[in-house]
Amino acid sequence: MTFVIILVGAVLYLYPSSRSASGIPGLNPTEEKDGNLQDIANQGSLHEFLARLHGQFGPVASFWFGRRPVVSLGSVEQLRQHINPNRTTDSFETMLKSLLGYQSGMGGGATEALMRKRLYENAINNTLEKNFPLLLKLVEELVGKWQSFPEDQHTPLCAHLLGLAMKAVTQLALGDRFQKDSEVIRFRKNHEAIWSEIGKGYLDGSMDKSSSRKGHYERALTEMETVLMSVAEQRKGQRNHTAFVDTLLQSNLSDRQVMEDSMVFTLAGCVITANLCIWAVHFLSSSEDVQEKLHQELEDVLGSDPVSLDKIPQLRYCQQVLNETVRTAKLTPIAARLQENEGKVDRHIIPKETLVIYALGVVLEDADTWSRPYKFDPDRFMEDSARKSFSLLGFSGNQACPELRFAYTVATVLLSTVVRKLKLCKVKGQVVEARSELVSTPKDDTWITVARRS
Ligand SMILES: *[C@@H]1O[C@H](CO)[C@@H](O)[C@H](O)[C@H]1NC(C)=O
Ligand SMILES: *[C@@H]1O[C@H](CO)[C@@H](O)[C@H](O)[C@H]1NC(C)=O
Ligand SMILES: *[C@@H]1O[C@H](CO)[C@@H](O)[C@H](O)[C@H]1NC(C)=O
Ligand SMILES: *[C@@H]1O[C@H](CO)[C@@H](O)[C@H](O)[C@H]1NC(C)=O
Ligand SMILES: *[C@@H]1O[C@H](CO)[C@@H](O)[C@H](O)[C@H]1NC(C)=O
Repeated sequence: MTFVIILVGAVLYLYPSSRSASGIPGLNPTEEKDGNLQDIANQGSLHEFLARLHGQFGPVASFWFGRRPVVSLGSVEQLRQHINPNRTTDSFETMLKSLLGYQSGMGGGATEALMRKRLYENAINNTLEKNFPLLLKLVEELVGKWQSFPEDQHTPLCAHLLGLAMKAVTQLALGDRFQKDSEVIRFRKNHEAIWSEIGKGYLDGSMDKSSSRKGHYERALTEMETVLMSVAEQRKGQRNHTAFVDTLLQSNLSDRQVMEDSMVFTLAGCVITANLCIWAVHFLSSSEDVQEKLHQELEDVLGSDPVSLDKIPQLRYCQQVLNETVRTAKLTPIAARLQENEGKVDRHIIPKETLVIYALGVVLEDADTWSRPYKFDPDRFMEDSARKSFSLLGFSGNQACPELRFAYTVATVLLSTVVRKLKLCKVKGQVVEARSELVSTPKDDTWITVARRS
């Protein structure tokens, strides 16, 4: 994914000098010190703020993040002019590292960055390959539980799928120590404390204004780091190289770098995996046609066998369903980067060191690019142009964002198991609203009922 937020704190405090917004249409600061931060908070989220900003000022628009002018790009055409397809460091991972204050891998020059990226991807590939049966088992446990429910029982998707994602990510990343529920529960507590601030507090600057929130966050981060370090220490002494962290340990990374990469993968992996699964099951439960078409593909390709890694590429419609899930849910609505050299979009000059936001959530619901953008319609990905626009935005499920590729694999295992055994039905009258932070998630838990396929 083409995300890089250079630590918002750094943006706010390291570059205090005020510049003029260079004539790009947009908002004036409502307040001298905070710029438009209050307006962002009033809109509920940065995504909602940007949707409104672009609605008012068009696809290239400016606003003020603290004392700093920001330029936001809100349509495919303007993003195309700005994205450098050759960059290898623009990733969710880099963004998270800077939000966490981790420096490693960012100063080391292009070759080292590329090496780290390959190693990280390779570690994900290895763990998926070596633990595929485990993944299948975790999914089958959950689906077995759903099968045992009476047909009118309401199943809470967020609770169950976050649970699945936590178990899968911790066991695949960190090994069998996380077969113990007590370890997963402890991990989950710290994960929630960290993510709730990373996801939100940083984006509107509000965490820095509350010392109790900041303290809570920092304690959770320290505890999580300690756990990850002790996992790495334990895994060094054994010969079983099945976990993500084992691949990192076999390289020449320092202990600190191993811990940081494990942190990024487990943090982002859990949230992206859980929410991809939640939204996919939710959309399927509201669309019987799509569910039947997917069921047909699964029967054709897999028969009654469980899904396997090498069959996944043949599940083309399943991939369209997941792509459309990412699009409709606006799974990752914001990306950003710092303008390195002066640039130009349309007739607008973007000065060096401007923070440039890619309003992906706005782009994903732009009717000029997607016909009937609010409709969940996996068939739109039969069109070459839709696939092109989508991969331009960096959701390529392949190289650009390794956590998303991991999530696609888990979600494919989930869908191929659940859709062949059960019909997913929506709960009538339920309205599901999204909360758009770094990763979009339902505001409240969302419910389905299931019926056995005869
Ligand atoms: C990207 O790389 C290709 C091939 O190396 C080169 O032709 C192209 O100019 C590069 N594009 C940018 C924007 O740097
Ligand atoms: C990981 O797997 C994907 C898909 O199978 C492949 O495209 C990619 O090159 C692999 N990455 C590494 C570093 O081996
Ligand atoms: C290695 O780890 C896997 C997954 O945790 C486990 O199934 C397997 O039994 C372990 N093998 C050995 C030799 O400990
Ligand atoms: C790891 O080893 C490779 C070559 O073996 C070297 O190029 C690289 O700089 C090393 N990285 C670190 C972080 O020491
Ligand atoms: C899903 O999206 C990716 C781009 O992000 C694209 O490469 C792939 O072809 C798409 N798959 C399908 C089946 O549409």
